[in-house]
Amino acid sequence: MTKSTETSQFERAAKRVAEGADHHAEAAAIVAEMTTAERLGCLDGDTIAWPGLIDMGAGGYHRHTWPAAHVERLGVPGLDFSDGPRGCVIARSTVFPVSMARAASFDPDLERRVGAAIGAELRASGATYTGAVCMNLLRHPAWGRAQETYGEDPHHVGEMAAAFSEGLQQHVMACMKHFALNSMENARFKVDVTVDERALHEVYLPHFKRVARSGVASVMSAYNSVNGEWCGENRTLLIDILREEWGWDGFVTSDFVAGLRDAVKSVGAGLNIEMPLRQQRALALRDALESGALDGADVDARVTETVATFLRFAFVYDRRPSKSVVACAQHRALAREAAVASMVLLRNEGPLLPLERKRLAKVALLGRLADVPNLGDNGSSSVIQREVVTPLAGIRAALPDAEIVHSENDASIARDADIALVVVGYTAEHEGEYIGKSAMSDFVALLPPVDHPELGLPKDFVPPPAEAAGERPTGTLGATEGGDRRSLRLPPEDEALIAAAAAASDRVVVAVMGGSAVVMPWLNDVAAALMLWYPGMEGGHALADVLLGSEPGGRLPFAIPVDEGDLVEFDPDATRVTYGLLHGQWYLDRCGVAAHLPFGFGLGYTAFDLASAERDGARLHVGVKNSGSRAGATVLQVYGSVPDSEYERPPQRLIGFRRVEAAPGATVSVEIPLDFSQLDVRVDGKWLRERAAPRWRVAFHAGDPGMLGS
Ligand code: BGC
Repeated sequence: MTKSTETSQFERAAKRVAEGADHHAEAAAIVAEMTTAERLGCLDGDTIAWPGLIDMGAGGYHRHTWPAAHVERLGVPGLDFSDGPRGCVIARSTVFPVSMARAASFDPDLERRVGAAIGAELRASGATYTGAVCMNLLRHPAWGRAQETYGEDPHHVGEMAAAFSEGLQQHVMACMKHFALNSMENARFKVDVTVDERALHEVYLPHFKRVARSGVASVMSAYNSVNGEWCGENRTLLIDILREEWGWDGFVTSDFVAGLRDAVKSVGAGLNIEMPLRQQRALALRDALESGALDGADVDARVTETVATFLRFAFVYDRRPSKSVVACAQHRALAREAAVASMVLLRNEGPLLPLERKRLAKVALLGRLADVPNLGDNGSSSVIQREVVTPLAGIRAALPDAEIVHSENDASIARDADIALVVVGYTAEHEGEYIGKSAMSDFVALLPPVDHPELGLPKDFVPPPAEAAGERPTGTLGATEGGDRRSLRLPPEDEALIAAAAAASDRVVVAVMGGSAVVMPWLNDVAAALMLWYPGMEGGHALADVLLGSEPGGRLPFAIPVDEGDLVEFDPDATRVTYGLLHGQWYLDRCGVAAHLPFGFGLGYTAFDLASAERDGARLHVGVKNSGSRAGATVLQVYGSVPDSEYERPPQRLIGFRRVEAAPGATVSVEIPLDFSQLDVRVDGKWLRERAAPRWRVAFHAGDPGMLGS
């Protein structure tokens, strides 16, 4: 077939939109041209249910994009989905540190660059749309998917996720997920989260609003229900709040396969596209439209919102970077930079770190994870990548002349070594998206019959080739189910190894891998410890960089308690749960219990002092001095409070932050916006500013007295 040189209706509309025409009016004109079948076809994925499911199970998820809302006759280019957020999940893409690690950088500029790199790799691999912006609040660190989000604080999550989304959207349409209150894993298909107006708007939604206002193209609804209504058919969330209150302009997709229960209701409630298959809506909508149970105006409204967004993002279709960007040297260097910026130094007695290269004749490397590619879980965000620099490989590359001894568990090798590095923590065996067989049984009822004439398996169906061994997610120790953690402690064998290493040497550095808080009763027994997270494919190099002198840039994006009993309750099997105003650091503060390591905590290789802090209207001018002898970086954090508040509220909450770098001896002045509206309370559908005066405090972490003002 020769390609027509005529432009399509969509292309002509896109040109007019680029010249200033209204994208909704242009979209409505395109939808008016569609047949009923074309309109209904825009309300779900383009892949037939059963063949699609089988392909997905055989590894198709990591091989190709998943299309929806393509209308060839009118040139509507639709969307082609692929996921993140640690990298593009198709092709052997660059694997970045997981989002929780990057959250610790407190560096939105860096996060924007990571987003742009992942966006370029997605687009080069054929995607135009990504679900990479996972940003549910970490209500409790045991959440299995903690690694995919940015932490426990709404302001911080919002800033990081907005930067990521802006970076991605240089190349693809981004989707923020999971809307809303999806922060438990095992029970995600059945849990109902009850939340009152204040907790919803003051705690669980401000970060989504921030990203919505930054122009994100799309929203993915969550699997769970909120106040008794499944999120995929929750009008309060999808229309009243998202579109009417926030003025957001974009399209909503369902979470995959099990994201809606009542296909007809979901259309009127604001869900634009069922993803990724022709499934529940394909079974129900045609008849419902004919019988009048489904309003044609709702169908048109949903399709118009989708097409309007495609028009607004028409540049995405025209620009496709070359495949050479996938895992290119520049992106791998960025992954290494991000891993360095994410590492949180938790203890450094002596200081033992940084190490002096010339004093390292013999290095002992201990632990199960010292030489294992450990990129994160095996769920929807996993990226297949064979070239992973493990801690052992990174140390070997950095110290070619040193003797490196390695044992998983023989701590005696620490005895005569110049340094003993113990690499412990979690893998996909301990935490991650829950992909076990029992999860499948929760949504089998939502599938069409396997012999359905249009949506089932055709008689002549040839199954796609099963994934080869090298095509499976390789980040971990094997096929695993993931899920929520049952404990915040390290596995007992890790704690025993740390104790044995500490008994053998006073030069022990513990590097902890994992996606969120780890309770560390052993911390004071070792000289140094750092959070290594799931540090991405260049993680081993980054670890060596930090041990040998690169500034560990990270600060904790959550509080680490002394005991997990200090936190709010977490029941992974709950079918009902109430989310309140307090969790994490806020809950500890309210209870008057000190965190072991507070939110925002992290050490550097130099020392910083606050020199001055002055308010100038809606800005804070802060002077900070590097009083040490090395160049370094710190994170200034602004906490807001209303000491005489009439309302129950967190005693303090983060309202601004800024990463600062300074040369030794230098005092740097920075400006941080002071937005007290983040302390407003939500009462009867309105935001209320209390008469009681707000206060600010600038500090280095949530437990630091810092400097106060009003
Ligand atoms: C996850 C989403 C993901 C989708 C597509 C779902 O199971 O909850 O986060 O984007 O799968 O892989």
